[in-house]
Amino acid sequence: MSLDNRADELIFFVNGRKVIEKNADPEQTLLFYLRKKLYLTGTKYGCGGGGCGACTVMISRYDHLTQKIQHFSAVSCLVPVCMLHGMAVTTVEGVGSTKSQIHPVQERIAKAHGSQCGFCTPGMVMSMYTLLRNNPEPSTEELLEALSGNLCRCTGYRPIIAGYKTFCKDSCCLKKDGDCCMNKGNNSSLSSDQIIEGTCTELFKANEFMPLDSTQELIFPPELILMAQQQEKRKMFFSGERITWISPVHLKELLELKANYPKAPLVTGNTNVGPDMKFKGVFHPVIISPTRVQALNSISQTEKGMSFGSACTLSFVKDILQEALLKIPRQEAKAFQVLFQQLKSLGGKQIRNMASLGGNIISASPTSDLNPILAASKCNLNVSSKDGTRQIPLNEDFFLGYGKTSMKPNEVLVSIDVPNSEKWEFISAFRQAPRQDNAFAVVNAGMRVVFKEESNIISQCNIFYGGTGPTTVGARKTCQQLIGRTWDEDMLSTACRLILDEISLPATAPGGMVEFRRTLIISFFFKFYLQVLQELKQMGVPDDKIPQNYLSATEDFPQGSIESKQIFQDISWNQSAQDLLGHPLMHQSAIKQATGEAMYCDDIRSMDGELHLVMVTSTRPHASIVSIDKMEALKMPGVVTIVTADDVPGSNVMPYLQDETVFAENKVTCVGEIICAVVAETVTQAKRAARAVKITYHDLKPVIITPEDAIEKQSFYSARRKLERGNVDEAFKTADHVFEGHMHVGGQEHFYLETQSVIVIPKGEDKEMDVYVTSQHPRFAQESVALVMGTHCNKIMCHVKRVGGAFGGKIIKPGKLASITAVAAYKTGRPVRCVLERGDDMLITGGRQPFLGKYKVGFMNDGRIISADVIYYSNAGNTLDESDLVIEKAILQADNAYSIPNFRCAGFVCKTNLPSNTAFRGFGVPEGLLITEYLVNEVAMRSGIPPEKIREMNMYKEKHIKLFKQEYNPNLLLRSWEECLEKSSFYQQKAAIAEFNNQNRWRKRGIAIIPLSYGVGFPYGFLNQAAALIHIYKDGSVLVTHGGIEMGQGIHTKMMQIVSRELKIPLSYIHISDTSTKTVPNTIESAASFATDVNGMAVKAACRTLKERLDPIISENPKKSWEEWVDEAFMKRISLSATGYFRGWNTYMDWEKSEGFPYTYYMHGACCSVVEIDCLTGGHRNLRTDIIIDAGIPLNPAVDIGQIEGAFTQGVGLYTMEELKYSPEGVLFTRGPAQYKIPAPSDVPQKFNVYLLSGSKNPKALYSSKGLGEPVLFLGCSVFYAIMDAIAAARKDSGITGHFTLYSPATCERIRMACVDQFTQQIPRDKPDSYVPWSVLV
Ligand SMILES: Cc1cc2nc3c(=O)[nH]c(=O)nc-3n(C[C@H](O)[C@H](O)[C@H](O)COP(=O)(O)OP(=O)(O)OC[C@H]3O[C@@H](n4cnc5c(N)ncnc54)[C@H](O)[C@@H]3O)c2cc1C
Ligand code: FES
Ligand code: FES
Repeated sequence: MSLDNRADELIFFVNGRKVIEKNADPEQTLLFYLRKKLYLTGTKYGCGGGGCGACTVMISRYDHLTQKIQHFSAVSCLVPVCMLHGMAVTTVEGVGSTKSQIHPVQERIAKAHGSQCGFCTPGMVMSMYTLLRNNPEPSTEELLEALSGNLCRCTGYRPIIAGYKTFCKDSCCLKKDGDCCMNKGNNSSLSSDQIIEGTCTELFKANEFMPLDSTQELIFPPELILMAQQQEKRKMFFSGERITWISPVHLKELLELKANYPKAPLVTGNTNVGPDMKFKGVFHPVIISPTRVQALNSISQTEKGMSFGSACTLSFVKDILQEALLKIPRQEAKAFQVLFQQLKSLGGKQIRNMASLGGNIISASPTSDLNPILAASKCNLNVSSKDGTRQIPLNEDFFLGYGKTSMKPNEVLVSIDVPNSEKWEFISAFRQAPRQDNAFAVVNAGMRVVFKEESNIISQCNIFYGGTGPTTVGARKTCQQLIGRTWDEDMLSTACRLILDEISLPATAPGGMVEFRRTLIISFFFKFYLQVLQELKQMGVPDDKIPQNYLSATEDFPQGSIESKQIFQDISWNQSAQDLLGHPLMHQSAIKQATGEAMYCDDIRSMDGELHLVMVTSTRPHASIVSIDKMEALKMPGVVTIVTADDVPGSNVMPYLQDETVFAENKVTCVGEIICAVVAETVTQAKRAARAVKITYHDLKPVIITPEDAIEKQSFYSARRKLERGNVDEAFKTADHVFEGHMHVGGQEHFYLETQSVIVIPKGEDKEMDVYVTSQHPRFAQESVALVMGTHCNKIMCHVKRVGGAFGGKIIKPGKLASITAVAAYKTGRPVRCVLERGDDMLITGGRQPFLGKYKVGFMNDGRIISADVIYYSNAGNTLDESDLVIEKAILQADNAYSIPNFRCAGFVCKTNLPSNTAFRGFGVPEGLLITEYLVNEVAMRSGIPPEKIREMNMYKEKHIKLFKQEYNPNLLLRSWEECLEKSSFYQQKAAIAEFNNQNRWRKRGIAIIPLSYGVGFPYGFLNQAAALIHIYKDGSVLVTHGGIEMGQGIHTKMMQIVSRELKIPLSYIHISDTSTKTVPNTIESAASFATDVNGMAVKAACRTLKERLDPIISENPKKSWEEWVDEAFMKRISLSATGYFRGWNTYMDWEKSEGFPYTYYMHGACCSVVEIDCLTGGHRNLRTDIIIDAGIPLNPAVDIGQIEGAFTQGVGLYTMEELKYSPEGVLFTRGPAQYKIPAPSDVPQKFNVYLLSGSKNPKALYSSKGLGEPVLFLGCSVFYAIMDAIAAARKDSGITGHFTLYSPATCERIRMACVDQFTQQIPRDKPDSYVPWSVLV
C-alpha cells in the first residue's frame, strides 16, 4: 500500500503558546525543536539518550475519558515532536524568569547553592516542578524519586536535595507558626551544645523563600481540552524528509497498518527505538504510534488477575499497582508486589513516565527488568493481527534472541495478563546494577516456586534471568529437576549446580564481568531460598533452621532521607555590614541558571549562513591511513566540504604538544583520533555524511593498550621522574617485614554535563576570527587556532561566558577542536559550529590517566613503616598532553600525610594506543595517593593493627622535610585528623559496626578515616601569574574582567565579593560579562584550585589602583555617593579603568636535584566514611561521611562547601563506580551515561557532614583563604577503604584473613568477587589465557 501523502498539522502548546507545525518531521526530537526552532535554549543537551536528565521538560495532556489533566516529566531528547499533538509542554522558561517572576522551585535550588555550573539545573528544576504540579507537598521519598533521572557532576546533590526538601511535608515545619527549624538554618539537627561559638551553620535562609502558590501556575490550555473533547478522532500522518509517522485511533486501523507495514515499529515511549535510531543508525521509513489507541491504554482487574494495556507507561502501571496493592489480599498479590518493587528501580522517573510496558517486553532486551519477573509469574500476552487474536505465554519460547520475539511481524501486543498468586506460591525479583538509580541491571532475575499444600515440597518452579544471554533466559531444565524436592539445603546446592550448568555464560560474553554474573546467578537463588524459607516458616511449615544472622540477607538497604550539617567559621564581629567577603553568598548566576537564561556556548543563536561540523575518527588503534574516500559523503545533501590535514593553512601540529597533530596525517595511533571533519548545512546532514566517509587502513604493530604492554615494550614518554628521601634499600634490610604488591587505579571520564563546543566566526579579513569555546584555558585555544591558521594571536579572539563543568577536561582538548572548526570556517568563509555528541566527547577527549602502582614496603612489628619504594605507571594514551605534569604532581605528593623516613617514588608515563588522556581534578594526586593509602592499609592488614592506628603512627607529627626538601608543618593536618575522629564519633561507630557485623552474615559494614595533605598551585612560577581589567563607568557601574573561567566553581562570585570589599560598593554595582583574550591577554588555565588565588590578587590590585585614584575625591567629600565620586573623577579627567597584575610566587621544582619549592601552601583535611555492603550482590550504600577541611578563612563558605561536597562525590565516583571499559583492541565501550555511571542522588551519604576547620589562616593567599576545589576529591577514597573494611569482615566469616587485592573502582563486581564464599567458589572459572576477554584493564 502506498503511503497517504496527506500531512497533518501538528498542534501543541509550549509554555502557554500555541505551536502549529505544518511540516512536522518525525526525526525531530522535542529537544531539537525547542532549542533550534523555538530558541528556548534553557532545556539542555547532555547525552541525547535519556540518561542524564538535562533536557527534562514537563508534558501535560488531557485525558478525555477521566477528564483529568496529567503532568509528567519527560526527557525531551527522546520525545519525537510528532508525539506531541494535543499536548502542552512546559520548559524551564515557562516556569519563571527574571524578566517576569522567578518560581519558588527556581529560587530554592539557586539559594540553597544547588547550582554550580548550572548545566543540570534546568533539568532539576523541571523534575521538581512536575512533582510539585502533581503533589504540592511531596514526601522526601517522592522528591528523591523525582530526581532519580537527573545527573549533576558539580554539586554532589546534597544542596539540591536540601533546597528542595523545604517543599516536603515530612522535613520542614515552615508552615507552622513560630519556631521553625528553618529559621535556625538547615542544620536543625544540631543541638545547641553542638554549635560551637563563632561557628555558623546557616548556608541559606529557608524562612525567606517564596511560598509555593499553585494558583499562579500556567494553566493547561483550554483549547487543548476542547480539541480532545470535540475533534473527530482520526488517523494522523506526519511526513518528514525520510520518515512517515502514522498515529491511528482504533485498534482496527492499527492492525491494518501493521499488516501493511510489518517492519514499522510501534513507537510508544521511544526509549528503545529512539536510542537505536540515534546511536546504532537504525532507520525506519514508517513509524506507527499506537498511543491514541484506547484498547492498548487501559488497565483492568478481574477475578483471575490484572490486565495491562501494552501502551500503558511504566509509571502508570506502577501507580495502579500501588493502589491495587492496598486492596488485593496479600497472598493473591505476590506478582503485583514484585512487579511494583522492580518498577521502582527501573530507569529514572522520566524514563518510567515515557516507556511502555509493551515496549519493554517487545524490545526483548537482555537487561529488561520486567521480562524475567513477568515470565516467572506466568503472564500471558494478548496479541492481535488482522488475522485474529491469540494468547502467548510469556516464557523461554517467546524470546528468540537479542530484540527478537516469537510474535509475527504483523502482530500487535494488545495487553498483558498478570495472574493472581496463590497461597503456596512465592515470587521474587532481584537485580544488581552498577548504580542504584537509573542504571540497567548487570543481572536480574524473576523466580517463582509453588509448593504442595501445607508442605515444602516443590510442585512448580520457574526461574528467569536477564543479563546472562542475548535476551531473557529461563532455567527450564533446572526447574523441572527441582520438582518434588524439598526446600532445604540439599535442594539449594543441587539447584545452584544445575543453574550454573544451564545458564552458562562464555568467558568472552559481551558485557564482560563473567565471573561476577555467574556468581550473581546463584547468589540471587540463595536469596530466594532464604526469602521462601522465612515465608514458609511464617506459614507454619517446619523448616531448615535459618541462622539468625542470615535474615538481613533478604532485606533492602537502609532507606532514609539525607541528613547533613555544614559548619563553618562565622565572619568576624568587626567586619562592616557592607563588606560581603566571607558571607555564604549564592553563586552570582544561579538564578539565571535556574531560569534557563544563563547562556552556554551552544545557546548562542545560529548566525546567518552558519554550518555544522562533525568529526570523523579512527576505528583502528594503530594503522597507516591508506586512503580517505570522501566522494560519497560529499555528494550527500547539505554537505559543503570535508576538511583534512591538507586544508590546514598553518601548522598541523598543536602548540607545545609536539606529538599531537590537529588532523591525523598518514597514520592513526588510537581509536577515536580525528582524521577529518564533515561540514554541512545541518548537524544531521553532517552526521550522516560523516558515516559515509570511507577510510582504508593498514594495521600496524605493536598495539599497546595496557600499562603491562607498555612495560613489556618499554613504551614510555619522557624519562622517569623520581624523588627519594633517606636510604630506602638499606632500610629494607632492617625492617621486620617486607612485602611487595601492586594496585590498579582506573581512569575517569570528566563527564562535564556540557559537552565540548566551539563556534568560530570568521571576520572576513586578515584571518581574524571570533572563537566561542567551552574552554578553561582560552589562551591555549587562541594560540592553537593562531598557529593552525598560520596567523598571530592578535587576530584570534577567544570568548568564554561560562562552561557547564570542566574538571580539567577543557584545558587542552578544546584547543584542537577550536582549531579544526577554525580551519573549516576559514575554508568555507562561513561561521561553523561544532558541538560534540556525548559519545564523541567521551571517545575523543580522554580523561584521567589510569595508574598501575607497584610497591615494596618495609615495616616494623609495631606498625611503623620504615621504608617504601613506589613506582607509578600512568596510562597516558597516544599523545603526551599534560601527562608528564600529572605524574610529576603525583610523585611530589606521594607521601600524603606520612613521614615514612625512607621513601622513594618514581613514575613512568606509558605511551599506549588509547585516546590521549589529560588533566583531571587532582592532577594525578587522587590516583597516586590511593596507592600510598593502599600500601598503608596493607601494612594494617598484615600486622593486624587497625588501619587508623597505622595511619596515625606514621603521620607527620612535627615540622619535617618533604620528599622535595621543602619544609612542612603538619599542625593543621593533625588538628584535622583529631577533629575528624571526634566529629565522626569514630570509635563509637567502629564498635557499633563490629556489633552489626557479628549479627549479620551477608551484610557487612565498614569504616575508614583518611588524612589529606595537599600542596596547592603550580610548581612552575610562570603559571602563578594573572591579570584583571576593571572599568568604572560614569554611572558608577563596574565591569570586571579577569583571566579566570567560570565553570561552576563560583570564581566570578568571589571576584565580585573582592571588588565589593575593595571598592566598598554593593554587589549590584558590579558585573562580570565573560572571559576573553581581547580584554585580558596571556591568561593561565583555570585549574589546580588556584584560579581564585591568582586572579583574585589581580582583581584586588586593579581595585586598589582605582581606589587610590578615587581616594582624594572621596576624602574631600566623604558624604557624597559612589556615583558622585565617580562623576567627579571623570570631570577631573582621572582614568576610571585599571589593570591589575599578580606576579605570583616563585615556585619551582628541580628534578635533577630532587628539590624545590613547588607549592605556596598546603591544604589539609580528614574524612571518615561508613558503608554497608551486600556481600551477595556487591551492592553498597554510603551511610555516613564526616569531612573536616582546613579551608583557611573562606571568601565564600557556601561556594567552598559546594566545592568540597562536589569534589568528594566525584571522588566517590572515581573510587567506587566510574569504570571505563576498553576492548582488547582499545575501543572504548563506555560512551554515555547508559554505560558509564557517575554518582546519582542515591549515592549521597545518608548522613553527610562538612566542617571547615576553625582558626586556620593562610598568610600566603588572598585574605587568608585557601584553594580547595581539587584536593577534596581524594577524600572520596574513604568510601573505598570503608568498603575494604566491610569486605574484610565478610571474608573473616568465610575463614579468610589478611591482605586481599581490591582494585579501584570498588564496583559491585569487585566487591562481590572479593567477598569470597561458597558461591564464588562454586562458579566455573576459565583459565586466564584460554580466551580473549570482552574488555581489558587499562
Ligand atoms: C535511560 C534509560 C534507562 C533505562 N533503564 C531501564 C532499566 O533500568 N530497566 C529496564 O528494564 N529497562 C530500562 N530501559 C529500557 C526501557 O524500559 C525500554 O526502552 C522501554 O520500556 C521500551 O518502551 P517504549 O514504550 O519506550 O518502547 P519503544 O521504544 O516505543 O518501542 C520499543 C519496541 O517495542 C515494540 N512495541 C512497542 N509496543 C508494542 C506493541 N504494543 N506491540 C508490538 N510491538 C510493540 C516497538 O515496535 C519497538 O520495537 C531504559 C531506557 C532508557 C532510555
Ligand atoms: S540530554 Fe536528554 S537525558 Fe541527557
Ligand atoms: S551544577 Fe549540576 S552539572 Fe554543574
